Amino acid sequence: MTARRPLIAGNWKMNGLKADAELLAGGLASRYKALQKPAFDMLLCPPATLVSVVAGHIAGSGLVLGGQDCHASEKGAHTGDISAWMLRDLGCGYVIVGHSERRADHRESNAVVKDKAQAAQAAGLIAVICIGETEGERDRGEALSVVSEQIRGSLPAGATAQNTVLAYEPVWAIGTGRTPTPDDVAEIHAEARKVANQVMGGGGESLRILYGGSVKPSNAVDFLGLTDVDGALVGGASLKVDDFWAIAQAC
Ligand code: G3P
Repeated sequence: MTARRPLIAGNWKMNGLKADAELLAGGLASRYKALQKPAFDMLLCPPATLVSVVAGHIAGSGLVLGGQDCHASEKGAHTGDISAWMLRDLGCGYVIVGHSERRADHRESNAVVKDKAQAAQAAGLIAVICIGETEGERDRGEALSVVSEQIRGSLPAGATAQNTVLAYEPVWAIGTGRTPTPDDVAEIHAEARKVANQVMGGGGESLRILYGGSVKPSNAVDFLGLTDVDGALVGGASLKVDDFWAIAQAC
């Protein structure tokens, strides 16, 4: 069994102004820095406007920084977009791609997500590739096949356990307070690892696969204790220092 270092990631989504970032990032940085030997990685993914601000507040703490999206190109005429190289330039080590909110709001297909992940990896970032079924797909018994198809379609050719993280986020669990059962999560994660291993041509045992969707302090241990769950991608609860920290303590 390959040891996988847990990753607790906070996706702030479109939330926060500079003062909020100072409190949140500063509070987490001092707690993480105080740990003698942290047994988990902690990643903050603020909105693009706050990446530099957060970088300043977490410097030297050991916390890592990520973007919430990137363009598939390095540079060019893409008004409003930012590239993986720009994120890297600001101190990011990670970038989320293919979040269901982007797949829905911006009609991002698996092919688009794959190109973004490839750009992230070319820029030296770790791509956090999100997958997850809708409520209708789960009700129709399609969750496993949807997730498998998303993995096959979204993982770029050069994906490895070092430059890729998968995040399973059932769409119906995001921001709703509803969650799958631990058995359901265990089933999807086991399948995701199997499929990713096939796509990557091996190395899937070392790949970190996060669970996301209404993770909070009271349920974190239910998911983080599962064999194939290597951390969490947290939305709402990552906006409060105490809640996000409590979730991290569960791993
Ligand atoms: O990327 C994190 C996410 O979509 C989950 O959000 O608010 O349900 O924790 P939330």
